[in-house]
Parts: sequence; structure tokens; C-alpha cells
Amino acid sequence: MAEILTAATENISVELKPAKANPKPGKLFIGGEFVDALSGKTFETRNPATGEVIAEIAEAGAGDVDLAVRAAQKAFEEGSPWRKMNPRDRSRLLWKLSELIRANAEELSELETLDTGKPIFESSKFDIPLSAECFEYYAGWPTKIAGETIANTAGGDALVYTIREPIGVCGQIIPWNFPLQMLAWKVAPALACGNTIVLKPAEQTPLTALRFAELTLEAGLPPGVFNVVTDFGPTTGKAMVDHPGIDKIAFTGSVEVGKEIMRGAANTLKRVSLELGGKSPNIIFADADLETAAKFALGGIFFNQGEMCTAGSRIFVEEAGYDEFMSVLRGRAAKMIAGDPLHPKTRLGSLISQEHLDRVMNYVSIGKSEGASVAIGGERIGSKGFFMKPTVLEGVTNSMRVAQEEIFGPVASVIKFKEPEEGIREANNSQFGLAAAIWTRDIKKAHQMARRVKAGTVWINTISTTDNAVPFGGYKSSGFGRELGRAAIDLYTETKTVWVDLNG
Ligand code: NAI
Ligand code: MG
Repeated sequence: MAEILTAATENISVELKPAKANPKPGKLFIGGEFVDALSGKTFETRNPATGEVIAEIAEAGAGDVDLAVRAAQKAFEEGSPWRKMNPRDRSRLLWKLSELIRANAEELSELETLDTGKPIFESSKFDIPLSAECFEYYAGWPTKIAGETIANTAGGDALVYTIREPIGVCGQIIPWNFPLQMLAWKVAPALACGNTIVLKPAEQTPLTALRFAELTLEAGLPPGVFNVVTDFGPTTGKAMVDHPGIDKIAFTGSVEVGKEIMRGAANTLKRVSLELGGKSPNIIFADADLETAAKFALGGIFFNQGEMCTAGSRIFVEEAGYDEFMSVLRGRAAKMIAGDPLHPKTRLGSLISQEHLDRVMNYVSIGKSEGASVAIGGERIGSKGFFMKPTVLEGVTNSMRVAQEEIFGPVASVIKFKEPEEGIREANNSQFGLAAAIWTRDIKKAHQMARRVKAGTVWINTISTTDNAVPFGGYKSSGFGRELGRAAIDLYTETKTVWVDLNG
């Protein structure tokens, strides 16, 4: 990832060419059909890099959520329902979806870049292919979901076994930073387990979810198995959380909304899984390969403009390696190309919105007022779109707000530490626990530290890699539940125990 960010060296201005993708006006996708919202209302989705309106999007509400839930319930229960489909057929449908994502990869990449402002390089090399791979990975699961037989110790003779059953209708609420990938992480395992879905994409980035809905028709997914309601969180998102017909909510987004969802879901005792924010420590010990660590540190914080829950936003550097690490970091950060997200050489795109840019820039001011200094960047680029220079704050201490609060933009805080014990203690001093990275050549120290870091993922001598086969999720305020891999099968199934008396 780090290589990627500094591969190109030419300068590109923030000059925006017109896009090729021509998204259709948005409708809701309910019961296998594209329909207007009951209210007939729409809202706009804009290209953050230009501020231009890309498309009108249907504005759902509680009534539309109800229709989508009914469609999903019907697909789950009635006729030849999805959950009872031969697992081989479910498997083929998931594989078909991955093929369709690949076949339409160019269009999907462009839509993703238009809607989010992220570089086309990233959407075409990461977001879209990884989404296709996620469906491929889960295409292998329907035929492998199994329970167990358990030796019973209660006395007498009995056969006790478990069955893994789908939960039912899953409400999935996703954010704007990796729209299609977040859809894939949630939709692919839920479908593999035989659930049906009501998905709400983020209001800022509904386009790839709607295009994916068209692909489900092409793949032959039965109507109602997958539904999309486009709208804002406090209305449609909340209506999903409140709806008694939804059995589970899977959410990725802010801590604040995660808490609200947990409170709301308590009323109907919905299953909940939450993937929330982070303030992940990237801990560099003096005995590390400092050049590689600095290269990767850039990818860890500046990929996707830093709009990443796993962003390695607190860079802890041991004093003895500090100067060498910082000189590589400065040199490489200066070469990073910000500009037109549709240009293949761009490595830093636009932030999602004016509001978010203001929020991120405000953190730079907060850092300065707390006594940090700006080592690199710290400024907006141009006045069109929401571009910002890759920014590194130096002289940060872990108690500062810039080290404790999630900034969710291209801003890293560098914190010096004197010896390993202090580094690990400070790294753990955070409300979050999503991920962490450790850099050292000492293999024993690496594993010792990995055990002590309180985080759902610990990278050793690498950063920010994920894989569809590998569980992902947080400790502490970063949420609970593990997505991806086998772990997601647990998230999307109930365990039923069957007890058969064999006495007599
Ligand atoms: P958000 O948490 O408000 O939005 C995420 C999703 O939740 C969207 O689909 C939104 O419509 C929905 N939502 C909002 N309020 C809701 C409610 N009351 N009930 C149900 N659904 C609701 O996040 P936002 O405002 O887009 O970003 C704010 C901050 O959250 C970011 O600056 C960042 O720090 C963090 N964030 C973290 C993400 C992650 O990957 N963990 C992703 C996006 C944001
Ligand atoms: Mg948009």
C-alpha cells in the first residue's frame, strides 16, 4: 500500500475532467423492483471533488422500510425460500455476483470515485476487486456451514446436535468511506448463511449499492432477498433499528451512532454487530527497518485520504530511531500526489464533504493550540472540492485531543517514546481498539507486544492489510463482533440445539 502512494512523482493539478459513468436516477430497490419512495421525495448525491450533483436519489422513510422488510420476510419464509435453497445453488448465485462485479468493474470503480472522491487508482485496484473477492470467498461457504454433535453428560442416552440457521431479515447500515466493500463484507456472508437483507447505504454514497442491486437481478437472485433503501440515518436508519421485522442490525460507522443503535435495538432485542471508529497506534521501535516502516506509515494513514477506521493515526516512534524515521516520512509525504480523483496517477483524493473537511482542518488547529507543530502539510489544497495536504503533526503527546479523538482524515499524530514499556502503555491508552501495528526486527518482542496490545487486529512489520478470509473487528469502543472469514458465519447464524432421547 505504501509503495502505491508514492509511486508516481509528477505533479497533477486539481483539475477535473468530466466523468464517463452516467448513473441513472435513484429509486429504492424493494422486492426485486426499482420503485419511487412513497413520499416521492428525492435528495442529491454529489461528487465531492467538484461539488456537482451526480444523481437524484429516492428518499425513503419508515413506510418504505416497512415495505422492504415485508419483501425480505416474504423471501425468507414463503414459496421456495432463500434459506431453504440448496446450498449449492446459493453458492452459484454468490459466485455469479462476484463475476458480475468483475465484469462491470470499470463502471463500478468510476461510480465509486465519483461518489466518494477517492482516487480511481484505489477504487479500481482495491475497492472493486476486493468486493468481488469477498463474494467469491463467501460463495464457498453455503456448502460448508455445519453444526456439531455433542457428547451429552446429563445422564442417560441421547443424541444432541446443533444446526446453524440463518437469523432472518438483516438490516445493514453502512458508511461512505468504502461503499461497495462495506456492502460486500455484510451482504456476502449474510446471503451465504441464507438470510435476507435490507441495506441502507450512506446518504453520501448510494450509487454503487444501487448498481449492485441491478446486478442481483442479472444474477437471478430471488426478489426480496436483497433490498436497498436510500436515505439518511436519523430517519430511515432509525426506522430499520426500530422495525420489529428486522432480526439483526449490522452497522459500520461512528461510535455515537453505534451507541444509539445499540440502545434502539434493545427494544426488540435485535442481534447487533458494530464496527466503529479507531485511533490505531502504529508503534515503531528503534530496531525496526525504519525506512520500510516510514513508507508503510504513509499508506497506513493516507490511503483513502485517511478516511479509514483502521487508519494508523497515532504514530509512536522510539526516540533512538526518531530522526531517521521522520526524515524518510517527510521526504515521501512531500511526493504524494493530490488531485483529480479520476486521474490514474492521483494518490490522494477529495474528502467526502465541506463539513468533513472543516472538521478535519479544525483538528489541525486544535493540535496547534495544544502545542503540537505541523511537520508536513496542514493546509487545504485549492478551493474546489475538499482536498487537503497529507498532514503530520509532531510533538504530540498521547493525552492531546488530536491523539485521542478520531479525525478520519489525512492527519497523523507523531508521538515520541523513550522505551518499549512506555510505548505500549501509551498505545493502549485510548478508548478505541480496532487495530495496531508493531515494527521491530526482534521477533520475540514483536509477539510479546502483539499479546499486550488491546486491538482486534495487530499487524507486525506491515499495516492496514485485510483479507476476506481473516476476521476483522474491534475491542473497546471500536465495537464488537468479527466480520469476514469464518467469524462472519457466527454473526449471521443462530445455533439451534436438537436433543433426541435414545433411552429405552
Ligand atoms: P455515521 O455513523 O453518522 O454514518 C454511518 C451510517 O449510519 C450512514 O449510513 C448513516 O446514514 C447511518 N446513520 C446515521 N445516524 C443513524 C441513526 N441514528 N440510526 C441509524 N443509522 C444512522 O457517520 P458519519 O456522520 O458519516 O461520519 C462521522 C464520523 O464517524 C467520521 O468522521 C468518522 O470519525 C466516523 N466514521 C467511522 C467509520 C468507520 O469505518 N468505522 C465510517 C464512517 C464514519
Ligand atoms: Mg456523493
